Amino acid sequence: MAYEFTLDDVEFLRSPRGTEELDLVDHMPLSDQTLVRDITAARERHGDRAGALIETIRLRRRARVKLDVDRPWLLTADALEQATPAPVARHRAQRLRGLDIHDVTCSIGADLSVLAEHGGRVIGSDIDPVRAAMAAHNAPDALVVRADALVPCSRDAVVVADPARRADGRRTHDPSKLVPPLPDLLAAHANRHLVVKCAPGIDYDALGWPGEVEVVSLDGGVRETSLWSPGLAGTGVSRRATILRTDGAGDTITDAEPDGIPERPEGEWIIDPDGAIVRAGLVRHYAAREGLWQLDPRIAYLTGDHRPTGTRGHRILARTPFREKPLRALLRHHDCGSLEILARGVRIDPDALRRRLKPTGTRSLSVVIVRIGDSPEAFVCEPVAATAR
Ligand SMILES: C[S@@+](CC[C@H](N)C(=O)[O-])C[C@H]1O[C@@H](n2cnc3c(N)ncnc32)[C@H](O)[C@@H]1O
Repeated sequence: MAYEFTLDDVEFLRSPRGTEELDLVDHMPLSDQTLVRDITAARERHGDRAGALIETIRLRRRARVKLDVDRPWLLTADALEQATPAPVARHRAQRLRGLDIHDVTCSIGADLSVLAEHGGRVIGSDIDPVRAAMAAHNAPDALVVRADALVPCSRDAVVVADPARRADGRRTHDPSKLVPPLPDLLAAHANRHLVVKCAPGIDYDALGWPGEVEVVSLDGGVRETSLWSPGLAGTGVSRRATILRTDGAGDTITDAEPDGIPERPEGEWIIDPDGAIVRAGLVRHYAAREGLWQLDPRIAYLTGDHRPTGTRGHRILARTPFREKPLRALLRHHDCGSLEILARGVRIDPDALRRRLKPTGTRSLSVVIVRIGDSPEAFVCEPVAATAR
């Protein structure tokens, strides 16, 4: 059970005495092996404050990876889980650079603290008093108040919202089950410039959003789909894929770019585009920009005679209609040892198939199984890792 912080805890943790006691607890290992001993020692030294002190230090240690900024965070376990990872928060803040902003669901302020570093005047609010108090500590350059996001309490500033994506303890893609519900949030701020962060899997086509829909991935995993109101959208852009990497590399592609691509048989490479590109419906736009084309018009795998810089690719060694016996023979011929299986447009259990194919050689290969027209085809490939841009 996670520790339940109170307003009194937050006040103490922010005080000079709290800071000193946090420093002392930060010297403890607090590992799974030492925790029981550490808790006993902390109780002797810090009395009733031990729980809040230990939980804060443990959460700060976890926050280093996700929030990547060296800040004396005050956090709750749930709020850390919901917090926007720093590279994604920075990307949003850079798009809003210099503007006055009101983050109406600021939680402990992971987004807010970054917005405050990039924005003009920045306000944060949350309905939860403990989280709002923590945000005031974490984002000292912002004005933080407790407020209901459905009752506007600012004027003119761009509204940023990140409704919670858990309803009844379960993840949801239904906009009306977000907390606060997306339709209510949009109605409450109808005449404002607005950015709303939603779950990556939200059905944005069903929303009929009039502005820009941006799908963001971080290190290959799709993290969020954000709705940007028309006044904040890129010129002529209604769909954008933004690809971020923690090493600072990145890419963006929009539907304002051309999407004309040739229909040709496979080239030397197969490229599996980043999930943000697929989710944003920009596979053809990406292919056109990179000089690639599709293996099949209904399938998101791309092919071409080169591998775009910074992208993982599969160099084609052989192609065969997908049947297990000839595929097994082909893999043996290519000395396949460890095998990665990628499949689209065909129903396959990759783990079960790998067990049946029994590769016993020495090379690491991949098999891309894809329906081309009506026939499932298998491409035996050599996977090549992404290289820096
Ligand atoms: C997903 S979290 C936001 C995380 C934040 N963007 C960050 O990076 O730290 C959603 C927040 O919305 C808040 N919330 C839920 N309903 C609200 C409402 N009606 N008004 C204001 N805040 C609300 C929750 O308390 C929670 O802190």
